[in-house]
Amino acid sequence: MTADLVIHNGKVVSPDTVIDASIAIKDGRVLAIGAAAAMPQAIEIFDAKGLHILPGAIDVHVHFRDPGYPHKEDWESGTAAAAFGGVTTVFDMPNTIPPTGTADILAEKHKIAASKAHVDFGLYGLLGDDTIEAVPALVAGGVIGFKCYMGNTFGKIPSPSTGAMLEAFEVVAPTGKRISLHAETNDIMERRQKRLMAAGIHDQFAHLAARPPVVAVEAVSRAAILAEWTGARIHILHISSADELRPLREAKARGVDITGETCPHYLLLSTEDYDRVPGVIAVNPPVREARNQAPIWAALLDGSIDMIATDHAPHTPEEKTRNDIWTVDCGFPGVETQMPLMLNEVNAGRMSICDYVRMSSYNPARIWGLFPRKGSLQPGADADIAMVDLGRDHVIRDAEIQSRSKISPWDGCKIKGLPVHTLVRGRFVMKDRVLANTKGWGRSVHTIQKMPSPDVRNAEHSMHAITAQRSAGRREKIA
Ligand code: DOR
Ligand code: ZN
Repeated sequence: MTADLVIHNGKVVSPDTVIDASIAIKDGRVLAIGAAAAMPQAIEIFDAKGLHILPGAIDVHVHFRDPGYPHKEDWESGTAAAAFGGVTTVFDMPNTIPPTGTADILAEKHKIAASKAHVDFGLYGLLGDDTIEAVPALVAGGVIGFKCYMGNTFGKIPSPSTGAMLEAFEVVAPTGKRISLHAETNDIMERRQKRLMAAGIHDQFAHLAARPPVVAVEAVSRAAILAEWTGARIHILHISSADELRPLREAKARGVDITGETCPHYLLLSTEDYDRVPGVIAVNPPVREARNQAPIWAALLDGSIDMIATDHAPHTPEEKTRNDIWTVDCGFPGVETQMPLMLNEVNAGRMSICDYVRMSSYNPARIWGLFPRKGSLQPGADADIAMVDLGRDHVIRDAEIQSRSKISPWDGCKIKGLPVHTLVRGRFVMKDRVLANTKGWGRSVHTIQKMPSPDVRNAEHSMHAITAQRSAGRREKIA
């Protein structure tokens, strides 16, 4: 059999080992991996001398703004940024216009993404008060999972009450899909923000003051209780504080199907950076005091936090630099800089390259039902590959990034370690730091998602069971 492509001389990284090996690729999948002499004939040979070969990163948290905010980002610019960042699959959030809360809107977004994406993708469905009835149609329409905004953020999606959340979890639990949570409790933040605004306080630290760690502690704890009761699977987005690690770990210890992510900005930035990049650093949840960093790193390394994602949240310079912090759009781009920033940490000895693959690719693939097609370079896996040069020095420049949003706290950051080539299903989407002509190559990964069977609990107490029982009772009486 002739392969389409054989990559020689690279160091192939898995969560357990780094091995000198060649990789043969055919029809978008890994055909063989092993000694160069054992590789089949190939149409194309690629020399990866000096490079590490990683399964492409899976970023389960990006905002590509399409449809709705083309001046901030769209599927083409966002996935170009992903390609440059060694990211081969992204999951896009539903706070677009209109929000991804019905099957029709989801179908339209699938069409847009498929026509523009350079990398593979999954789409979140919105889980809120008004979308509970749409859950079956959203699942049938191919959502990768659900997003529930327990706290308000960009897009002002209303936060569901605890009652609505319980009902939503009851409905999602039997589908087996995972629910990602923006775990900040809205009414605490709303009250504090109102009081700060009334007192005329509008500096950037007021944003932090309105969202103390207790908002995350409360939200993670409450979500874990609802997940435990219903059997719904949950994922805690953007873990920002040391404090929320306790309810996360306790829930894991109780057997709740709960996973978590953190982002480079919580690992590498702190309140000490606020005056360096005022307003630009504003993000929800906020970047916190430096004391949070070491516990978050420790949790990532011990597996309490399962993965690295980015919360890639592009906005324009004008939207990021307004004087009144309450009017600043929160978030900044990250999908392109995550891998370089983390490779720099590998070089600094904070973690091994194997650890990095576990957090950026293997764990997301496993947790979201994509393993072993994604998150692995074993034969049969999709040939989603980031080839990285661990020795390459690079300065991150906002002006040079692919995202339409040219403003982030990373501008001027000197790093060592850079993705230099990215392949999605065997095709170069970025080669030698140049984007390939691959617009529209990206595909939705929902078709290959296999979540384990659900473990539904307390179904007899669910709203659905109660109302069905009551109406059956009524029918009996009438008869
Ligand atoms: O800072 C943020 N920006 N946090 C979020 O949760 C949403 C995001 C956005 O969409 O801009
Ligand atoms: Zn987000």
